[in-house]
Amino acid sequence: MAATSFNPVDDHIRLGVLAEMIPTELPVTPGLDLAGTVVELGPGVDGPRVGDEVVAMVPLDVHGGAAEYAVVAAGLVTAAPRSVPLADAAALPLAGLAARQAAVELAGIEAGQTVLVNGAGGAVGGLVVQLAADAGATVTAVDGPQHAERLTGYGAARVVGPLDLDAGPAAVGGPFDVVVNHVRLATGDLAKLTAYVADGGIVVSSAGPVPADEGRSVRTAGVWVAPDAAHLADLVARVDDGRLRLHIADRRPLEDLPAVHQDASNGKLPGKTVIVIG
Ligand SMILES: NC(=O)c1ccc[n+]([C@@H]2O[C@H](COP(=O)([O-])OP(=O)(O)OC[C@H]3O[C@@H](n4cnc5c(N)ncnc54)[C@H](OP(=O)(O)O)[C@@H]3O)[C@@H](O)[C@H]2O)c1
Repeated sequence: MAATSFNPVDDHIRLGVLAEMIPTELPVTPGLDLAGTVVELGPGVDGPRVGDEVVAMVPLDVHGGAAEYAVVAAGLVTAAPRSVPLADAAALPLAGLAARQAAVELAGIEAGQTVLVNGAGGAVGGLVVQLAADAGATVTAVDGPQHAERLTGYGAARVVGPLDLDAGPAAVGGPFDVVVNHVRLATGDLAKLTAYVADGGIVVSSAGPVPADEGRSVRTAGVWVAPDAAHLADLVARVDDGRLRLHIADRRPLEDLPAVHQDASNGKLPGKTVIVIG
């Protein structure tokens, strides 16, 4: 293994809050993202070769990335991007697959649409902004001002500070064809996001359910990320042709993993954190 990366769900799994949805047998070696070099193949495996540099997301109930060696089903493995260091590629699998699921599979973002991304500066949000802008949508990115320059560089037409949910969509140029939410809000605040979607539009959330509005034909969908090697290969190709940029806020050694979890619990992680192993 060259690296894994920290995802907020690692913390949720460790705390046991997702025990019903993600059955977990202890002890667990955390880490859902893998970036490393193939050292051995199982019997009859045809596909990756020993020596290949690869990336993968393992299923949410499998784990194992935060270790010197990891075992992964060959069908989940994809050639690593060539344009970034192998360890940095650990930032891509889970966040990229969640972003792709939100923007491409669930929202089906198209050219000419207006899209609001809430939590746009984060690991998943930053990738959604780029996928949406690349599709030809006009993107309004919502996050703190420290992310503004980077989000503009990703193609966001407009970057605004945290939403004043009582001010409503007009205050930020809405309503929008698509709203993608990555901010864990209280149930009542999540419900306020429905008003940001135009009639016939869709809200997709990775951070708690947002209600639909059948009267206005506003649909809703929740992200539940899963491994998919073909989708990951598409994301790798986008990284290599410069259409998708990875933002790594910090790189920490494996020994720091307990402190990384602690920092996440205390809201102190600066963003996507790669856990460097090799
Ligand atoms: N269901 C799934 O399959 C799935 C998959 C992946 C992720 N997720 C969830 O999706 C969420 C995002 O994940 P991530 O890895 O992208 O996390 P992240 O990197 O921590 O990103 C969260 C972003 O939201 C911003 N933010 C916080 N409060 C905000 C507010 N009130 N308004 C606007 N922006 C705000 C943060 O800004 P600061 O930097 O200023 O704090 C940060 O940039 C998490 O809740 C995670 O659990 C779910």
